[in-house]
Amino acid sequence: RCLIVLATVATVLLTSMALYYLLTPRVPSSPPAPSSSLRLIVLVESIPEGLEFNSSTTHPSIFQAWLNLMDEAQSSIDIASFYWTLTNEDTGTHEPTAIQGETILKTLAELSGKLSIRIAVNSPQESQRLDLRLLNDSGADIRAVNMRELTSGILHTKFWVVDKKHIYIGSANMDWRSLTQVKELGTVVYNCSCLATDLGKIFEAYWFLGGGQTIPSPWPPSFSTLYNKDTPLQLPLNDTPSQVYLSSSPPSFCATGRTQDLQSILSVMDDAQSFIYIAVMNYLPTMEFTHPRRYWADIDTQLRQVAYEKQVKVRLLISCWASTQPVMLTFLKSLASVYNPKSQLDIQVRLFVVPANPKQKEIPFTRVNHNKYMVTDKIAYIGTSNWSGDYFVRTAGSALVVNQTASQSPAPTVQSQLKAVFERDWNSAYSTPLTQHMDLKYLLEI
Ligand SMILES: *[C@@H]1O[C@H](CO)[C@@H](O)[C@H](O)[C@H]1NC(C)=O
Ligand SMILES: *[C@@H]1O[C@H](CO)[C@@H](O)[C@H](O)[C@H]1NC(C)=O
Ligand SMILES: *[C@@H]1O[C@H](CO)[C@@H](O)[C@H](O)[C@H]1NC(C)=O
Ligand SMILES: *[C@@H]1O[C@H](CO)[C@@H](O)[C@H](O)[C@H]1NC(C)=O
Ligand SMILES: *[C@@H]1O[C@H](CO)[C@@H](O)[C@H](O)[C@H]1NC(C)=O
Repeated sequence: RCLIVLATVATVLLTSMALYYLLTPRVPSSPPAPSSSLRLIVLVESIPEGLEFNSSTTHPSIFQAWLNLMDEAQSSIDIASFYWTLTNEDTGTHEPTAIQGETILKTLAELSGKLSIRIAVNSPQESQRLDLRLLNDSGADIRAVNMRELTSGILHTKFWVVDKKHIYIGSANMDWRSLTQVKELGTVVYNCSCLATDLGKIFEAYWFLGGGQTIPSPWPPSFSTLYNKDTPLQLPLNDTPSQVYLSSSPPSFCATGRTQDLQSILSVMDDAQSFIYIAVMNYLPTMEFTHPRRYWADIDTQLRQVAYEKQVKVRLLISCWASTQPVMLTFLKSLASVYNPKSQLDIQVRLFVVPANPKQKEIPFTRVNHNKYMVTDKIAYIGTSNWSGDYFVRTAGSALVVNQTASQSPAPTVQSQLKAVFERDWNSAYSTPLTQHMDLKYLLEI
């Protein structure tokens, strides 16, 4: 009798173990796709007309990357976008450097009749909808996401998902200026269906909301992900073992399993051991667009904390242009005052100014460093958000986080390539150390 009981218990145990094994979703520890397809990750940049660096650090252009992606596309292109001004009709100028943007629009319109092209765009749109009308007339599907109504924010995300296989993510807007007049940084990953499928889920969320739905809570399981900061996707990129994941904002757009963009930034900073280099257009410890004013220092506090507790070297390369708010310099001076070599405190700030000749000055909203990335001794973070509170609380954005620290390969990692980009810009003639007495007028005149 005792034996029978034992046998029953054993059977039940074994069955439940087998069931558990079968039913528990597992994070793949090896690439599920055939290893014959090489997964390539490439940094891509727009360098404004006339900018010259005394450096061998160069990357393919974003223009070329978008052309390549359209060339590769066989069935679908999904684009998440803030606004569209790919032709220079918006400025009323006849700018020869608009030709790249116009080429992208023309090629996309040609493809719209042949493939599934879906575009999620922020609404309400303030400026011209010319590009979107052309694409719609050519057969593309367009949905406007009314972020003002949904979150009082904007859809600020900029990414492409092609054939659920290739992706682009980065700072460039669907704007001709983003290809030739504004400094931008992004990345393209080819042949990586796991990552493309995961970014596709973020796109599907915009698409769903663009259909006039309210924000579901919780999101249906089809939007969930297994890949996040705690269980990243493990796979080789450029033949190098890598851990990657995508983060997203605002928090209300994050389905189960998705790391919030702010959490990913804070954890990348926390993980750094020797340095944190940050290149963003805007940096403010405030809710930039909220009335009444609100202070928001999550990122600022983290930087001061890691600089103090772990003696991590912090460098911020921030953009300065005609539209820069003077208060940004005030807060940056405060951060840059955390500098005292004797106490191993080392935060430094430089301002990057993209010079403009008289003709370039006539082009509105241009000649600026629009980069949004961070690189530490371990991680490359490539995002789409300005660094102030609104972007993490209300605005839609996303980022790709790449960890290749386990790499033994002699090929340069994404982290080392991004570090070289940062160092090129930091040491260039276009960047100026921020001092306590500096003002905007001075900066814009040099
Ligand atoms: C993707 O992988 C295939 C092999 O499976 C290869 O032929 C192709 O060139 C790769 N595409 C890119 C863009 O790297
Ligand atoms: C988009 O095109 C369809 C026809 O395919 C048309 O009915 C619709 O009005 C167009 N929408 C816009 C916003 O132009
Ligand atoms: C980033 O911030 C600037 C200044 O507030 C704003 O003009 C811009 O639209 C923001 N987003 C973009 C386009 O990256
Ligand atoms: C990066 O990857 C290494 C080795 O694969 C791992 O030990 C480390 O925890 C990872 N770091 C982060 C921040 O994910
Ligand atoms: C490049 O180097 C030359 C000579 O050393 C210098 O005159 C020039 O200002 C540098 N240009 C930039 C953009 O750093």
